[in-house]
Amino acid sequence: ESPKMATEDKLKKICVLLDQEVSYYNWTGFYFKNGDKDELKLGPYVGAETDHIIIPFGKGICGQVAVSGETFEVPDVKAQENYLSCSIDTKAEIVVPIFKNGENIGQIDIDSHTIDPFTDEDKELLNWLCEEIGKIL
Ligand code: SME
Repeated sequence: ESPKMATEDKLKKICVLLDQEVSYYNWTGFYFKNGDKDELKLGPYVGAETDHIIIPFGKGICGQVAVSGETFEVPDVKAQENYLSCSIDTKAEIVVPIFKNGENIGQIDIDSHTIDPFTDEDKELLNWLCEEIGKIL
């Protein structure tokens, strides 16, 4: 494997791996702060196409995590008011922030077709992953 594999390719590979390995991860992708704008931009992902390429800070689960810098687990999306629907099949979602040098620069977003699927192991895995990703960005 090439040591020069671009970051985008690495992130895409992570999406593919998570999507393959965890049956209840049904959309896996990254959003990153879009330059100096107060908005997120869609990065590498695996899953259905989404209308939400750009998400203003504060909007939806992703936009809220961009502001709070805290993991947001949504066991049942129907119970959320500030939520951007990507697919009618999505029942649950988790968004974990990615920090680089202490700055909240992006996030991993996972949607599930199962209600309340995420375990403590998922959260540990995703936290660890986001910490490691923060180091290579
Ligand atoms: N559901 C997200 C939007 C992104 S899509 O799920 C890919 C949200 O509420 O921010």
